[in-house]
Amino acid sequence: MTIRVGVVGGGQLARMMIPAAQALGVEIRVLAESDEASAGLAATVVGDYTDWETLSFFAQEVDVLTFDHEHVPTHLLERLVADGVVVRPGPHALVCAQDKSLMRERLAGLDVPLPAWAVAEDPGDVERFLAQHDGVAVAKTPRGGYDGKGVRVVSTPKDVDDWLASGPILLEQKVEFVRELAQLVARRPQGDSVSFPVVETLQKDGVCAEVVAPAPDQSSEIIAEAARIGRVIAEALDVTGVLAVEMFDTPSGQLLVNELAMRPHNSGHVFTEAGVTSQFEAHLRAVLDWPLGDTSLRQPWAVMVNLFGDAGNERIHAALDYSPQIRPHAYGKHPRPGRKAGHLVATGDDLEQLKTLVRGASEAGRQQ
Ligand SMILES: Nc1ncnc2c1ncn2[C@@H]1O[C@H](COP(=O)(O)OP(=O)(O)O)[C@@H](O)[C@H]1O
Ligand SMILES: [Mg+2]
Repeated sequence: MTIRVGVVGGGQLARMMIPAAQALGVEIRVLAESDEASAGLAATVVGDYTDWETLSFFAQEVDVLTFDHEHVPTHLLERLVADGVVVRPGPHALVCAQDKSLMRERLAGLDVPLPAWAVAEDPGDVERFLAQHDGVAVAKTPRGGYDGKGVRVVSTPKDVDDWLASGPILLEQKVEFVRELAQLVARRPQGDSVSFPVVETLQKDGVCAEVVAPAPDQSSEIIAEAARIGRVIAEALDVTGVLAVEMFDTPSGQLLVNELAMRPHNSGHVFTEAGVTSQFEAHLRAVLDWPLGDTSLRQPWAVMVNLFGDAGNERIHAALDYSPQIRPHAYGKHPRPGRKAGHLVATGDDLEQLKTLVRGASEAGRQQ
């Protein structure tokens, strides 16, 4: 009997798990939001993942359940586990990628460096935190944020009146980072894990725009520290599958943990071309409890640039026309301003040349 993996969510991450599943010879099923979802080309069930009947019916048909996003309510996942469904990562781990305040609480007990943080319930709490941090802070909605939505730089409690009206928020010290890094780890249920090379990510307006692998100008201490942080978190939270740890690299050289994802992550797209094992394959191997593979790079450098708005045939064609070195990934989404619609990757020896190349290709054929 062929092993069947079920993925909740039909976005681009589920879509890019499909070729990895095919290569491994496992069947993949997707519970998608609509029949036009990015992963619509896999055996797809269309339905609402917050509806118990839909979710449990989907889960009963697969050998292991995993995710394209972290939005499935924890109580539904706990019910699935109680019913004997194999859910990876499990709800106890996933909740730390769902709720940024809870994530801070759980990480505070571990040997990993964090920015100063607090949970604020009312304007007085915000006022106090601002007073302790030179009048500026980063406020976050604990749940539901992505791509910078749910993140604000604040200097007065008024800036978060609207958010406080619907519940407590997370406040963080505004970190003056020199750059942002991401560490991916893939971990099997019993604890075997592999670390990918740490990458540098560039966010524009809170959204990942560009990734370089490996992170340039890295000391061996930083590489070791990023890998240590990834391993400590994966182990302590008992993550199964890919864990992505977003980090700030600060002027003193200290790394501070920003947030976590427990699924393939935008920062890991480079490994499809640049790695011996892609993050999608690593995630599937980990949730299947299979050997994890080699995470080393096949090329000295890889650069990824996201395509926003549209990655239709014309734009992809223009990118390919720009240079034969470009590797395309279109997500099959309807064009919408600002939407992550695809990405381009190039690998090679000369980092500056690769950056120029991929940026140029991403601009080619862009609808103004
Ligand atoms: N405490 C902070 N200090 C400085 N910048 C931050 C802080 N937290 C977040 N940011 C910036 O906002 C971006 C998005 O924040 P993040 O918490 O990762 O939210 P999202 O879930 O939208 O990715 C980060 O990649 C970083 O550029
Ligand atoms: Mg983030």
